[in-house]
Amino acid sequence: MDGLETLKAKYLMAVAAAADENALEEVRLAALGKKGEVSALMATLGKMDPDQRKAAGAMLNVLKDEIDAALRAKKAALGDAALDARLRAEWLDVTLPARPRRAGTIHPISQVMEELTAIFADMGFAVAEGPQVESDWYNFDALNIPPEHPARQEHDTFFMHRAEGDNRPPHVLRTHTSPVQIRALMDKGAPIRVIAPGRVYRMDMDQTHTPMFHQVEGLAIDRDISMANLKWVLEEFCRAYFEVPSVELRFRASHFPFTEPSAEVDIRCSWEGGQLKIGQGDKWMEILGSGMVHPKVLAAAGVDPAQWQGFAFGMGIDRIAMLKYGIPDLRAFFESDLRWLRDRHTHRPAKTRV
Ligand code: DAH
Repeated sequence: MDGLETLKAKYLMAVAAAADENALEEVRLAALGKKGEVSALMATLGKMDPDQRKAAGAMLNVLKDEIDAALRAKKAALGDAALDARLRAEWLDVTLPARPRRAGTIHPISQVMEELTAIFADMGFAVAEGPQVESDWYNFDALNIPPEHPARQEHDTFFMHRAEGDNRPPHVLRTHTSPVQIRALMDKGAPIRVIAPGRVYRMDMDQTHTPMFHQVEGLAIDRDISMANLKWVLEEFCRAYFEVPSVELRFRASHFPFTEPSAEVDIRCSWEGGQLKIGQGDKWMEILGSGMVHPKVLAAAGVDPAQWQGFAFGMGIDRIAMLKYGIPDLRAFFESDLRWLRDRHTHRPAKTRV
């Protein structure tokens, strides 16, 4: 058993030199593997006489243990180094922003809702809300649209499915924001000044209609509110919203079941070279419906029409967004095309100012 010291030195050096776990495994196989050098020496023990075998066996076991210990220690060291390297490579700064900030933009409809909320807030209007799935009482009956009224058909209503035996009142997807008038009055009573921007639904789809669109409802009730107040509020709103020094509005007699008298309102404008100008020109663009709240509507909401009166209006948000930002096709608003949305943000057209 001479040469064991040489063998030990050889393998301890090889272990020390192994650069990674694969190299180390090769060293282990060469020494302690089935066909390894130490194993081969072990195999010679059988041919020795008992005394020799005892002495040589003990020495070989010590050698085997020493090499094995060196292998394990090195393996652990290599593992730590590998982990360190991996941790370094996969280091992540969790304080970095998740996405570049400029990737997010505000949808033009949201932006217009914010703008109009701010403008009406300056005139003392709070924001009221109501559900999009609405009972037909709020959507129609309370607004003086009884079941047989033709206006119900005109609204192209989406009805909610009802299971058999369900006898709760019928529900619809609200066809306008007007039911929020009723909710706000029942909730807060008079006097009141609110706007209610939100989504509404009708079965309609073409270049200027989508099944879901947006309206803003306005309601002002007090002891002596008149059409003159309505006119001033709407003019103020249009000047501020379209950012023009003056606007001209035209009130056309109309009919809505929930107002008496009723008026549709047009704004003076012109189209020059495909560019819309608000405030001057010889064209008129319809932007909203309005009127003095019908006494029956006030009564339905628990407000005494002998004491209180006021105006209401309903305006299409998508329409005024198209007008301000020069967007010709309403459907673009709801296709969620990121290229279009980004373009809205970066290329806002010049103001439609005179
Ligand atoms: N609710 C009406 C619609 O959707 C719009 C409207 C007209 C609202 C006149 C009003 C109003 O408050 O007074 O077509």
